[in-house]
Amino acid sequence: MLIELIDVSYTYENKAPHERRALNNVSFKVEKGEVWGIIGHTGSGKSTLTEIMSGLIKPSGGEVLLHGEDVSKLKNPMSKIKGKVGLVFQYPEHQLFEETVLKDICFGPSNLGLDEEECIKRAKEAMELVGLGEEYATLSPFELSGGEKRRVAIAGIIAMRPEILVLDEPTAGLDPVGRDMLFKMLGDIKGKLCESIVFVSHSMDDVALYADKVLVLNEGSVLMQGSVKEVFERSGELEAAGLDVPQVTRLLIRLNEMGHSFDKTLLTPEAAADAIYERLKG
Ligand SMILES: Nc1ncnc2c1ncn2[C@@H]1O[C@H](COP(=O)(O)OP(=O)(O)O)[C@@H](O)[C@H]1O
Ligand SMILES: [Mg+2]
Repeated sequence: MLIELIDVSYTYENKAPHERRALNNVSFKVEKGEVWGIIGHTGSGKSTLTEIMSGLIKPSGGEVLLHGEDVSKLKNPMSKIKGKVGLVFQYPEHQLFEETVLKDICFGPSNLGLDEEECIKRAKEAMELVGLGEEYATLSPFELSGGEKRRVAIAGIIAMRPEILVLDEPTAGLDPVGRDMLFKMLGDIKGKLCESIVFVSHSMDDVALYADKVLVLNEGSVLMQGSVKEVFERSGELEAAGLDVPQVTRLLIRLNEMGHSFDKTLLTPEAAADAIYERLKG
């Protein structure tokens, strides 16, 4: 396993009068090759969890194992996690600052202590994977469109070749076309510059289409976790917690309620359409 969280808790402003428990005994692990979707209401602890995974903050309780080694008690967990878990913040394009795209993407790898030649090599490789042609290298990031800026920001993280790429709401503010492009790009990156991907989303449809596994957070605790099918089979519990189910799942549930027996665990609109078409033919 690449990373494992065991009973992780986090409290903001510990001991202060208005302390805020953001995570309660969260356990989950990411294996090589997996794509995880993390989902939950605003305030359920998703961003806090990404910051703990990437060593930005230390858990108040519990352990964070990286390749089996507990890094959460280290004075500086970042020293071990840096380069292994790459975090792309929400709206990462707000953090671009260098005068050229190439320099911006080189910032992360040069922070890992790599020499200039290696940084440039990795930056160019990352640019290609996110679909930015060489002509972008010398442009100012500030001249780019929102979608292009986001790709520059993601390239800056994958240029560090992290084992796990963690993205906090990577599709926030993107239209459906931009969203599809982003997930296609993540598919291209996985297996090339990173082994596993963890993305935070508030769209059950995105999770159903693009993740293998789902972690559902509710008020800082794990409500459920497992394969996409296992989680969406429990649609009643999701709805009871005020969470959506994918549109395709909702349609199949409705058809079953109407007396037509369909497999409720089909996850893509195409699979559902095929099943319905077959039934109509029959
Ligand atoms: N810097 C902070 N100081 C105090 N409380 C915070 C801070 N950041 C987040 N919180 C609180 O922690 C909880 C979890 O927040 P967060 O991890 O941002 O959730 P999500 O990303 O799911 O919206 C929320 O109740 C939020 O108000
Ligand atoms: Mg958040």
